[in-house]
Amino acid sequence: MLTMEDVFPPFRLRIRCGAIEQRVLRDDDIPELVDLVRGGVQAPGTPMPFLADWHEAPFAPGQPGAFPAVSLSWWWQQRAAFAPDAWHLALTVRHDGVLVGMQDVHATDFPLTRTVETGSWLGRDHQGKGIGTLMRQMAISFAFDELDAVACESGYIVGNEASRAVSRKAGYVDNGQRTLVQQTRQGAVRAQEQRVIVTPDAVVRPGERVVVEGAEELRRFLSIER
Ligand SMILES: CC(C)(COP(=O)(O)OP(=O)(O)OC[C@H]1O[C@@H](n2cnc3c(N)ncnc32)[C@H](O)[C@@H]1OP(=O)(O)O)[C@@H](O)C(=O)NCCC(=O)NCCS
Repeated sequence: MLTMEDVFPPFRLRIRCGAIEQRVLRDDDIPELVDLVRGGVQAPGTPMPFLADWHEAPFAPGQPGAFPAVSLSWWWQQRAAFAPDAWHLALTVRHDGVLVGMQDVHATDFPLTRTVETGSWLGRDHQGKGIGTLMRQMAISFAFDELDAVACESGYIVGNEASRAVSRKAGYVDNGQRTLVQQTRQGAVRAQEQRVIVTPDAVVRPGERVVVEGAEELRRFLSIER
């Protein structure tokens, strides 16, 4: 009988480095993910890091417009984007098997641009321990080594010092600023995003080797030619 990995090859992807493992989000991960978000994501006094403050939505399971319903819809949408010209890998991040956060890697028109965009977050209890730096370094090492990306882009809200530091430590350089709109409990607000970019010649890789399984099947599934 076929397995889910045969049917949907992104599920075969496994990116490991030391105690950290990244895999495409599965339904079985979701209860643990919801608990992680409930433990807090944004440190007090830091800028709201996302386009919408989904992590601050009231917890009301089974209710529309609340957490986790809105986030479930978002997570499942990520998995539905797997066409070669628009794909999205929502990767769970586990530390010694414990779910600690999410690392997204996504791209539009990748065969032409060879550029990916990343985004990430960790539960509060897992921040400030070097995991954010390592998980980003793992994701971009994977993009350069296994997808043959030529650039990885990211962005952070001006004032998000932890995200700025992660970008710097992974080898990114500034790539301009843009104004964007964030959806918050208080309504739509304007924010300034610092764009950053890293290329293979500048990337700072993790101290330990990044081991990737399932990359060949993923490349075939996303029509990525080497
Ligand atoms: C941003 C985030 C992923 C970083 O991960 P992390 O594991 O906390 O970061 P690390 O422990 O790897 O630390 C990276 C660097 O940030 C620095 N740093 C952390 N918080 C800082 C702060 N408030 N001010 C200045 N530097 C800070 C650390 O000192 C470290 O640099 P160093 O090793 O040179 O000392 C994590 O904090 C997080 O999830 N925050 C909430 C969501 C978020 O902001 N996501 C990013 C959206 S762009």
